Amino acid sequence: MTENSSWTKKILYTDRPADDRSRMRAVANNLILHLHPTKVPAPALRWSYTWGLGGLSAMLALILIVTGVLLMFRYDASVDRAYTSVQTIETQVLFGSLIRALHHWSANLLVITTFLHMLRVFFTGGFKKGRATNWTIGVVLLLVVLAFNFTGYLLPWDQLAYWAVTVGTSLLSYIPLVGQAIADFLLAGPEVGQGALRNFYAIHVAVLPALLLVLLSYHFWKVRKDGGISQPEEGEGENGRSPRIERLTTIPHLVQIELAAATVLIAGLLLFAIFVPAPLEALADPVHPPNPAKAAWYFLGLQELLLHMHPLATMILAGIGLAAILFVPRLDKAEADIGVYFRSGKGKWAAALAALLSVGLVPLLVVVDEWWLDLTQMFPTWPTLITNGLIPLLLTLPGLWLIYALLRGGGRLTHSEALTGVFTFVFVSLIILTIIGVFFRGANMALIWPF
Ligand code: HEM
Repeated sequence: MTENSSWTKKILYTDRPADDRSRMRAVANNLILHLHPTKVPAPALRWSYTWGLGGLSAMLALILIVTGVLLMFRYDASVDRAYTSVQTIETQVLFGSLIRALHHWSANLLVITTFLHMLRVFFTGGFKKGRATNWTIGVVLLLVVLAFNFTGYLLPWDQLAYWAVTVGTSLLSYIPLVGQAIADFLLAGPEVGQGALRNFYAIHVAVLPALLLVLLSYHFWKVRKDGGISQPEEGEGENGRSPRIERLTTIPHLVQIELAAATVLIAGLLLFAIFVPAPLEALADPVHPPNPAKAAWYFLGLQELLLHMHPLATMILAGIGLAAILFVPRLDKAEADIGVYFRSGKGKWAAALAALLSVGLVPLLVVVDEWWLDLTQMFPTWPTLITNGLIPLLLTLPGLWLIYALLRGGGRLTHSEALTGVFTFVFVSLIILTIIGVFFRGANMALIWPF
């Protein structure tokens, strides 16, 4: 008998279900052991390794499904009644406002936890040693989470919803070749209207939940199939034998941690949702846009880039970024550094340097481009596709290569460590551009000082 199956027996059967309570416990244990292996390596249980981000994302997805189903009983996806149905939920349905706030804040938090979970997996090399497929599934999951938020944004049919989706779909139409077709399909008309609301609702409550459930089930199954989550390589032990990594039983060790994390998350969310209701602005007015008309916050990094670059160049850059993230397992094939944050101590310094460079450089470039540099005025006869598109693109891509080359420094850092530095620069830059878009852009999208 294998070690695992003997443990399964011990956990499930030594505690024979003598009464209803112990029978329930056996059923719960059985369910848990379908999701988790019977034993997990001790290092994988360290809070500071995963920060519980995958589990928190899963918990948030569950909260979203439950609160979403409840909202569906009262929400009406018609241009004439959507706004009033949300008002009714807010004011006349028992706990309606709380359920809507829980749905709203969980959705926003899920974007953050999923993004941070991706960063955790990237920085610990959690995509290595046979985990490339799960990384790819994860990238699709991130896109599904963004699509959930984007389609949900329109449903309240208030000014915020209407104009954020108008800006968002116009961003989509800049995607070369397929962008306009995707925007036309989503809008089902010349502008955001009944067709768009119907499509967004169908995608939000049917297509995306089905996709999420299939992808998440596969994601979890694959974590088990890949031998549990990543961890550092076992080193050389005494007499040339590898020291065994201590393995702890899932019940109670892992389950205790998961229960504690879920309790803290639910309590925190509940408190937040009680005191901060989900926003609902005035009824959508297709004639009077707010100033500034901003996309949803998670697309503001992209909108910020569009203020500095030609739309085609922006989309090419975003496409290259997404492709680079998808191909991370091919770009970084070294396996020995798996499970070590930033690959090594030197990698940690490289990442810190790259982050500092981004914090200094990105705001500087934004300010210089806003107030001093105008390539279209400097070269008035050149097409804007060159002055605002090709030139910034040709400066950005070699710029990233330069960071890689400087970090690598003729073998000072390994390829894996230098690549981690470049990705850190890109991730931090995206965060900074988003912060600038959220807080530092005012009327007419001009730079403002928010405090
Ligand atoms: C709704 C979104 C997601 C949920 C609920 C989710 C959930 C999880 C959970 C529970 C784990 C186990 C370990 C942990 O908690 O960190 C995990 C591992 C993993 N996830 Fe996700 N995930 C999501 C999105 C993503 C994304 C966006 C990526 C990457 C682009 C990704 C890639 C991975 C990989 C490669 C592993 C194995 C990591 C390792 O072995 O260290 N996941 N995920």
